[in-house]
Amino acid sequence: MIRHFLKVRDLTKEEFKFLLNRSIELKSGVDRLKCPLIGKSIGMIFEKPSTRTRISFEVAIYQLGAHPIYMSPRDLQLSRGETIKDTAQVLSRYLDGIVIRTFSHSTVEEFSSFSQIPVINALTDNHHPCQAVADIMTILEKKGDLEKILIAYVGDGNNVANSLIEASALVGAKIHIATPEGLEPLKECIDWAKNHTQVKLFNDPYEAVTNADVVYTDVWISMGEEGNQDKKNKFKGFQINSSLLKKAKNDAIVMHCLPAHRGEEITDDVIDGPQSVVLDQAENRLHTEKAILEFLLGM
Ligand code: CP
Ligand code: NVA
Repeated sequence: MIRHFLKVRDLTKEEFKFLLNRSIELKSGVDRLKCPLIGKSIGMIFEKPSTRTRISFEVAIYQLGAHPIYMSPRDLQLSRGETIKDTAQVLSRYLDGIVIRTFSHSTVEEFSSFSQIPVINALTDNHHPCQAVADIMTILEKKGDLEKILIAYVGDGNNVANSLIEASALVGAKIHIATPEGLEPLKECIDWAKNHTQVKLFNDPYEAVTNADVVYTDVWISMGEEGNQDKKNKFKGFQINSSLLKKAKNDAIVMHCLPAHRGEEITDDVIDGPQSVVLDQAENRLHTEKAILEFLLGM
């Protein structure tokens, strides 16, 4: 059966844990010279910019022995109106897997419904599942027992927040989410996660961050929302700065999926400070993309 990875909750708890352990193993370098995907070709369609996701996937694909093919949508017939159905069916005849970053989540759902090869969501407006695997891997490395961890996410209830909530639920980490009113994460993600872990919503970041082990934020204006600058005004008080960080545990780590808008959702002293793990978090994208590719495309 073809497996796609469109959102975190497409995986079982056991599969998610397997990905975390395999990512740590791959990071150690034990299988560095093995090329389990040799002879395969993996497409990458990116309708939004990307630094980490695109490069980590290209390097991961190369290191696993496969061939990455980056496709800008304007170079595909999709830009001239060819349907997603036809594109998915045709690319399935050439490729062994496809990584897609796009706007509407329904686009990856439609693509996967016609695809004969695994589809990996490299970010949609609603979900960023590959990011969440690297996020939890980073927390596991830094903090150990995930069931004892309190994650506090402060900011916009966006794609990153939705996937982080689902991932926290799969590993049993408690999660607090502080957003301005009306900018909460998707209800379907919260409701699903509440069946697996403790999820609490706040409008007060100070309350949400109190005694947290992890303080996480993301941009206030996501890709595709650039026309909605008024939204920024709703985030007064939601910046991760030294005063907010003091409410968390003394050894709390600070996370951000990057790219950051320094001086908006996070201050320079915090993102560059001793509690920040953002560069390890970014590095872990490479190891987790490899584990995801191996898992979906077969070792
Ligand atoms: N975190 C992340 O997905 O970054 P990019 O947009 O650079 O891929
Ligand atoms: N929420 C951000 C994440 C970027 C990696 C966005 O969608 O632009």
